[in-house]
Amino acid sequence: MTEPRNAVGVRVNGEPARDVVPDRLTLVDYLRDRRGLTGTKIGCEQGVCGACTVLLDGCSVRSCLVLAGQADQADVVTVEGLAAASPAVGELRAAFDRHDALQCGFCTPGFLVAAVELLARERLDEPTVRAALSGNLCRCTGYGGIVAAVLETHERLGPVPLAAPPPAPEPPPPAGRRSLGPPLAVAGVLLALGLLVRRLVARRSRTEGTA
Ligand code: FES
Ligand code: FES
Repeated sequence: MTEPRNAVGVRVNGEPARDVVPDRLTLVDYLRDRRGLTGTKIGCEQGVCGACTVLLDGCSVRSCLVLAGQADQADVVTVEGLAAASPAVGELRAAFDRHDALQCGFCTPGFLVAAVELLARERLDEPTVRAALSGNLCRCTGYGGIVAAVLETHERLGPVPLAAPPPAPEPPPPAGRRSLGPPLAVAGVLLALGLLVRRLVARRSRTEGTA
């Protein structure tokens, strides 16, 4: 029996694409296997570790808990596209370096994605950062450096809102039909006007003939 499949149109890091995917394909598998974006990691595959965190329409989500089909028409940002989504990323990465906020680095993409969402807030303090990042697990660092890096970035830059995604491109015309270019569209309007005038003239002649 073949698995049901869905057509999805999802924009990842500003790049639109249409794909046909199995109903049960997760967003993280779609990103890694179909789009080649292996910066998003797979840890627990059950929504616990946060390694697979991406932005979906501007909100951080665990992409192992989202089906690729659910992301249809959405805007997804992975760690590879994060610099275009938030001007805070360069400063945040430098702060991670200064505070030794990574060792093996497996959890780091998920932390960076979750942190840029957090850095859009007006005010941040240590309890807030610890609570907001508590859904991302790190087995190496003890979290102190990560929290310090986020707080230092916020102190230096203030609130940094996420950039709005670029406008969606025009969808291509359906296969087998060509879109009317501007000259053809103008010709169509002129033809319709001509028919209308002819109809009015004919009606007027009939009216005068019967008068
Ligand atoms: S792999 Fe998604 S939360 Fe762990
Ligand atoms: S740096 Fe190794 S899991 Fe976080």
